[in-house]
Amino acid sequence: MKRVAVLISGRGSNLGALIAAQDASYKIILVISNVEGAGGLEKARAAGIATEIVPHGGKSREAFDAELDAALRAAGAELVVLAGFMRILSDGFVRGWEGRLINIHPSLLPAYRGTKVHERVIAAGESESGASVHFVVPELDAGPVIAQTRVPVHEDDTVETLSGRILAAEHKLYPDALKLLASGKVRLEKDRALRL
Ligand code: GRF
Repeated sequence: MKRVAVLISGRGSNLGALIAAQDASYKIILVISNVEGAGGLEKARAAGIATEIVPHGGKSREAFDAELDAALRAAGAELVVLAGFMRILSDGFVRGWEGRLINIHPSLLPAYRGTKVHERVIAAGESESGASVHFVVPELDAGPVIAQTRVPVHEDDTVETLSGRILAAEHKLYPDALKLLASGKVRLEKDRALRL
């Protein structure tokens, strides 16, 4: 049973899915938000999970990351899951949690890293998009992919319809990928996600 901390900044729909899917492989012991009013905090509290707010304003990235790191270690976190966490983490933080830090991104990585993914996917006329769960490495959205899910892009899709379709797929994908990691069925090996 791995002790998991989830980092959020917003509504926390993935957090909700991760809470609902907890099983013998992982338990969410802490939710940290850098945003005070993040909707996901309510989801955590309703589930009886400890929450902490670590604001990022008025401090350096390194100072912010050091506070995060201290809170995670004090809680005895073993795995750290980014779920709509809108801060870029410093190289030092990422190295400190190497192989134990994962993120979900709403594209078929390595395609469409970064922001405004759905706008770009629609503008490019793609017929398919999806979501990827990956190990976090210092370069943004560049870590080895653990699991992906694909969805069709329809001709009349808007950012809202496409992001909604992908989000629904994320809610299955993220718990599945976390269970693989928590139960030792995947690990970061050099620069790839090794399935065991
Ligand atoms: C999701 O689209 C995820 O892929 C991205 O941020 C969004 C988070 O949504 N990284 P939620 O807060 O989990 O609802």
